[in-house]
Amino acid sequence: MVIAIDGPAGAGKSTVARALAEKLGFTYLDSGAMYRSVALAVLEQGGDPVTRAQELQIELGERVIANGKDVTTEIRTPRVTEMASRVAVDKDVRAALVAKQRELLASGDWVAEGRDIGTVVAPDAELKIFLTASPEQRARRRAAEIGADWRTVLRDQTLRDAQDANREHSPLRAAPDAIEIDTTDRTVEDVVTQIAGLARELRR
Ligand code: DC
Repeated sequence: MVIAIDGPAGAGKSTVARALAEKLGFTYLDSGAMYRSVALAVLEQGGDPVTRAQELQIELGERVIANGKDVTTEIRTPRVTEMASRVAVDKDVRAALVAKQRELLASGDWVAEGRDIGTVVAPDAELKIFLTASPEQRARRRAAEIGADWRTVLRDQTLRDAQDANREHSPLRAAPDAIEIDTTDRTVEDVVTQIAGLARELRR
């Protein structure tokens, strides 16, 4: 079974997807970590992002290992975040990473998190969730995570949101059959319980 969790940055995707995977005994796929790893490779080694994406050897687990190197912490820095949003506009970068994601999702039970899981990567996913939250709440959550001022985060987030939503290839959209959940005033536990309940109903 594949559960797709899509939505903008700061909607709570990672926290919810991780907790949900744990609760259900599914494997968690962080597709954003792939875009981030390509961005880091481009920043460190230069070269063509498409080639970097095609060459990327990635292990996703407790740690993110890209091309043999532990990049878990480095891929969360602001410069990598910014570059990830830029490399993610390229359709050939996306094609290379989508192929890797589909290979993983082909067997087993997954909670896959990203922007285009329900629309492009796994359009046949049994359960599709689109998480949202108010821009202010999303910025506050991100700011707390990285120890920054939330107004600064909000400004950068607005720019990245526009970049992610307006790009030509796989813009951020909810799949028509996705269930939209607004997490603004809800706890992680509450949201996870709701999605786990939906998954259980489907499995019956
Ligand atoms: O979810 P995240 O912040 O780790 O994602 C990093 C960047 O990668 C973000 O700009 C959106 C992009 N991304 C994407 O385009 N498609 C995905 N499936 C996952 C992430």
